[in-house]
Amino acid sequence: MKKILPIKNLREEIFIPGDKSISHRAIMLASLGNSTVEIENFLSGADCLSTVACMKNLGVDIKIAGEKVFVTGKGLFGLREPENILDAGNSGTTLRLLLGLTSPQNFLVTFTGDDSLKKRPMARVIKPLAEMGASIFGRNDNKNLPITVLKPQKKLRGITYKMPVASAQVKSAIILAALYAETPTTIIEPYPSRNHTEKMLKSFGANIQTAGNEIKIFPAESLIAPAKIIVPGDISSAAYWLVLATILKNSRVKIKNVGINETRTGIIDILKKMGAQIEILNAQESGGELFADLLVTSSNLRGVEFGGEIIPRLIDEIPALAVAAAFAEGDTIINDVGELRVKETDRLAAIVAEFNKISPKSFEATENSLTIHGGNKKFFAECKTFADHRMAMALSIFGAAAEGVQIDDADCVKISYPNFFTTLLN
Ligand code: S3P
Repeated sequence: MKKILPIKNLREEIFIPGDKSISHRAIMLASLGNSTVEIENFLSGADCLSTVACMKNLGVDIKIAGEKVFVTGKGLFGLREPENILDAGNSGTTLRLLLGLTSPQNFLVTFTGDDSLKKRPMARVIKPLAEMGASIFGRNDNKNLPITVLKPQKKLRGITYKMPVASAQVKSAIILAALYAETPTTIIEPYPSRNHTEKMLKSFGANIQTAGNEIKIFPAESLIAPAKIIVPGDISSAAYWLVLATILKNSRVKIKNVGINETRTGIIDILKKMGAQIEILNAQESGGELFADLLVTSSNLRGVEFGGEIIPRLIDEIPALAVAAAFAEGDTIINDVGELRVKETDRLAAIVAEFNKISPKSFEATENSLTIHGGNKKFFAECKTFADHRMAMALSIFGAAAEGVQIDDADCVKISYPNFFTTLLN
């Protein structure tokens, strides 16, 4: 339980932790090289630590020293059969990507996870992997954890797969399996989702060709790891400060070293469309990933309507954007967000149930959309997070910008942002 009091403004500088998606991929890909990789600004959140534990169980040598991690790869064909069941905890990225990576291996692996992950759909990743020849068995007609991956009967085959939903986790699982296939694999996405796996694999020398929504992956014999991977700050974590600094009066804050990969910057585009002032400063590149400082100043917002192609570029930021919309003038309509129903919790249901306690009659959802009526009166409220880190952080900034809030579970922020409250309450 934690009580957050209203805060006046945000000033000066904020340093945010490493990107969660990139941290997972850095551990996994470094494990497949033949040398030691130093990972700088690694996110030591619970999700990425689940990936570390799984890769250690698969025989990889990983040492964590503060925000640096040293991974000594075993080579593309050097993973070993784990002695234990692999526990992905709360992390969909760990589970889905590792289903792809373990599908072609010559050994058996069983995965489990927490109560949230046990409910999340896995058929979306098992189906394409099975088409490639993987032997994967789960509970409930293969839809849920626990899931066992058997040694495939023969080498996986390349496929052409048209993805029904834009999901970077599903795409990445197929890409990792495709490295081991007999023939090339082509993936067609409905809209581009985050492309960190493709970018990082290219920096490891893999042959991956991207054109529009199509990705072609060629089988690899080995990967050549760079000596160092620098993880940019997580724009999904920066999102809370982008919103809070915009809606609080008299704020001006510089958020340092934020990843601005074009598949992740939908939050900046929409906040700007709503009237926010966000400047991108000192843009730099490392390992194919762009990062920059974001300077945000208080602004008056207006409601907007969006959906379609931009949704995968801001899918994790919708709880934060819903807070911004509650302070805007007029209605905001967010279409094509049915995927939020299968995140760590059903985020559409959670937003409607809990955000309306702070600003009554402001949030409405259909199966696939969210409407926010901006400008209504705000109250102090006691809210539930449903053990979802992004609900906890969005509720906290909502309360901080309104009349305060009490959340039942503050600990869950450790999934992606262990120091969130230190920064908020500073
Ligand atoms: C992620 C992909 C997204 C995102 C998740 C992280 C990734 O999920 O919501 O937080 O690292 O690939 P989907 O692939 O299910 O859209």
